[in-house]
Parts: sequence; structure tokens; C-alpha cells
Amino acid sequence: MRGTTRAPTRAEVIARAAARLAGAGVPEPERDARLLYRWAANLDGAGLSAVLADPATAPEIDRFERAVEAREGRAPVSQITGKREFWGRCFRVTPAVLDPRPETETLVAAALAGPPVGRVLDLGTGSGCILLSLLAEWPEARGVGVDISAAALEVAAQNARSLGLSGRVGLVAGDWCAGLAGSGGQFGLIVSNPPYIAGDELAGLAPEVRNHEPLVALSPGGDGLDAYRRIAAGVGPLMAPGGRLLMEIGPRQATAVERILAAAGLVVTAVLPDLDGRDRVVSASFRPKSEKNTQFHELFGL
Ligand SMILES: C[S@@+](CC[C@H](N)C(=O)[O-])C[C@H]1O[C@@H](n2cnc3c(N)ncnc32)[C@H](O)[C@@H]1O
Repeated sequence: MRGTTRAPTRAEVIARAAARLAGAGVPEPERDARLLYRWAANLDGAGLSAVLADPATAPEIDRFERAVEAREGRAPVSQITGKREFWGRCFRVTPAVLDPRPETETLVAAALAGPPVGRVLDLGTGSGCILLSLLAEWPEARGVGVDISAAALEVAAQNARSLGLSGRVGLVAGDWCAGLAGSGGQFGLIVSNPPYIAGDELAGLAPEVRNHEPLVALSPGGDGLDAYRRIAAGVGPLMAPGGRLLMEIGPRQATAVERILAAAGLVVTAVLPDLDGRDRVVSASFRPKSEKNTQFHELFGL
């Protein structure tokens, strides 16, 4: 009589994968192995916990195996599963877009702390996570998302459709503000999370970022500040009177970005920290005309 081999339980399959991921240098191997298994088996956290001691099924193992291989190659979990939660909603993520970061939620929170605006412009919209989150929270608002990457705009369009927001969003291929002057202008809120990593910092990034996220989403090269220069120079004709500009920044860029904005006539009214306490968002407005020649300047660090 032939002996039968017991099928491994899900817990065993996950534990073996976590060991492989640890061997590949993945920073949180147990967490990622569990997340990938949940995705492969189409289970939520509680659902997986309830069946951990049961045998894994062959289709689950196949799908999981491919996911673990990709993660060993340091593909981000969001690119493997094709999704990422941001501001409480699920966004599609592909290698064409930046994986929406939790720190970018600081910018969304800052926008929502102000009154709803009628028209929002998002420069470098990527997956659309910032713009679409704002439109979902402000049911009367309409928005325009600009990106230089046609592939990113495809992803933003898919996200707009899946969130039921296509009717209120326009997606435009373009180079920052160029070409928007004739778009009806007058945005009460302009938001941007531009690429801001300096050229010489790219080599130090985690492999998930350096080798898997689009370079155009990460760095403008040089000192990392070029996108701020371009945006500062271009937003004037697009901003409604009294409008706000909210931009994500790198943790050591507040002073430099403030100088760039000041040279374009914008005053930074707040530098907001992310949840780790690092400078993450600048809020700025154009100086009212009467104050143009004064040294008036306000900077709140919260
Ligand atoms: C850091 S990612 C931000 C994506 C998304 N807004 C987010 O917060 O996750 C920067 C985005 O700017 C876009 N971008 C880079 N250069 C650009 C340019 N010259 N004009 C417009 N968009 C640009 C990139 O394609 C990328 O989608």
C-alpha cells in the first residue's frame, strides 16, 4: 500500500514562504507572506485566521507561489496584488504608477481641513489617489489630474471608474502646468506630490522603489527640486483668488521649497508633519496684492 502525504496547512505554507522572503532580505517577511496568501486565497484577515489550520488548496498554492517569487525579486506587495488602500478606498496600482504612500494622506487631510472647493487641480496625479480621494469626500467638486505619463493616466482613469468618479474628473496628459492656461483656470485648490528625490539619493532607495517604481514618479534628477520650480512658476494663472497650493515635500526640503515659492510670489502658511513627525506638506497661497512689497511672512510648524 502506498503512503499518502498530508497536504500542508495554510499556516505551514505561509511559514515556509516567510522564511524564503526573509532569505531574500524582505523587511517584514511574515506580514508580507500573510498578505500575499490572503490575496491568493481571496480572504480577509479574519477569514485567513479561521482557516489557517486547514490544508491549503492547489489553486491557492499556485497563485501564492507566483506571488512569493515576485516578492523575492522585491516587487512591492501592491504591484503583486494590484491594489493599495489609500484614505479608506481601494486603488489599482501597476508598475506605471507610484504606490500611494501613507504619508501622502497628510496632504489629503490638510486639504480636507479647509472648506470644500469647486475645482481641484492635481499636478502629477499618478494613480489619482489624491485627487480622487478629495472628489469622493467633496461630492460637489470637480477635478483635473495632469500627468506626463500616459500609462499612469490609464490607471487614474480605471480608479476614477471603479470609484464612480469619472463624471467629475478630467485627466490630461501634460508637462506640469503647460497647456492648462486655456482650461478655464481658476482652481480653488491645487495639489501635487511631485517627484522630489535628488539624483544622488536614488542609489540608496530600497529595491522595491528603485527597481520597481517609475523613475519619472520618483526623481526629477539634480537636487530634486525642479518640479517645485516648474510648478511654482506655472500655477499663477491657474489659481482662483484666495486659492491654496498644497504640495508634498521631502523631509528636508521645506526651507528650499519655501524659497522657491516665495520667488514666485507665494507665501507658505504652514508646513505640516506626517505621522512620523517629519515635514511632509507645504501649504501656500499667493500674497494679496496689497502685501506684495511687505516682508509679511507666516510659518506655522504644527
Ligand atoms: C510622486 S508621483 C505622485 C503620484 C500620486 N499623485 C501620488 O501621490 O501617489 C509623481 C507623479 O508626477 C508625474 N510627473 C513627473 N514629471 C511630470 C511632469 N513633467 N508633468 C506632469 N507630471 C509629471 C509622474 O508621472 C508621477 O505620476
